[in-house]
Formats: sequence, structure tokens, C-alpha cells
Amino acid sequence: MKNTILSAKGLFKSFAHNGGQIHILSHVDMELYEGDFTVIMGASGSGKSTLLYALSGMDRATAGQVSYGGKDLVKMNEKGLARLRHTDFGFIFQQMHLVSNLSLFENIAVPGYLNKNKSAAQVKERT
Ligand SMILES: Nc1ncnc2c1ncn2[C@@H]1O[C@H](COP(=O)(O)OP(=O)(O)OP(=O)(O)O)[C@@H](O)[C@H]1O
Ligand SMILES: [Mg+2]
Repeated sequence: MKNTILSAKGLFKSFAHNGGQIHILSHVDMELYEGDFTVIMGASGSGKSTLLYALSGMDRATAGQVSYGGKDLVKMNEKGLARLRHTDFGFIFQQMHLVSNLSLFENIAVPGYLNKNKSAAQVKERT
């Protein structure tokens, strides 16, 4: 029996468009399981990135639930989402968004240095 690590229920993401609303995500139900490697496939513009943003607390869904660690990310405040992004989620973007005056090593290490519970030596080792 696999453990569900994250689940979405009745997820909607809508944007204002031509005086109305355009639904990029509608009625999305899904579960992700601990230890799994999951791939989301779809044509360009079909909403894969939008879904990832909603599942990871990078953006908030318009309606529905995203359950993670006993909490609903759709209802979580900005501070809670920022903490979760820092401690629990890792992202590799299509555009790298690297800080250009840092080395590759430093770019990877930066979030670690923001973690007060880790020493510089631990961050270096992990990087
Ligand atoms: N902030 C926004 N405002 C309005 N429309 C948006 C916004 N963000 C995304 N969209 C639209 O939502 C749709 C889905 O975009 P999304 O980037 O999630 O697609 P994708 O599947 O990740 O595409 P790709 O494979 O090219 O990365 C697109 O039509 C896009 O134009
Ligand atoms: Mg995308």
C-alpha cells in the first residue's frame, strides 16, 4: 500500500480573459505517492506548469484543495507557503533563473544558507 504524499481535489485555476474567466485547470483530482517518480504530460499550453505551481505552493489555485502534510495549500497564507517552498519543495525551472553573478555551486547552495539549522559545512556537503 503506497502512502499518498500530496493530493489535489476539484482543483481550478482561472485567469481573467476578455472580460470573462478562462479555466486553465478545471476539476483536477490527483494523488502523488511517496517514493514515486511522476510525469505530467500534455501539449504546450495545456497547463502543466500551472498545475505544478498550484501543487507546490508557488501559486494558489482559484478553487479546490491541495492536501500536503495535513494542510490545505489553497488556504495557506503567503508566509506558510514561503516556508513550505523553502523546506519541502525543490524546483528546476524551464528557464534556469540562475543568479548570474554567483557560481553554479553558489546558486545551488543559496537556499541552504537560509536554513538556520544547517551549518555552512553541512550546506557545502549537501550541495
Ligand atoms: N498568469 C497568466 N495569465 C493568463 N494566462 C495564463 C497565465 N499563466 C498561464 N496562462 C495560460 O495558461 C495556459 C497554460 O500555460 P502553462 O504555462 O501552464 O502551460 P504548459 O503546459 O506548462 O506549457 P509548456 O509545455 O509550453 O511549458 C496557457 O494558455 C497560458 O497562456
Ligand atoms: Mg510549462
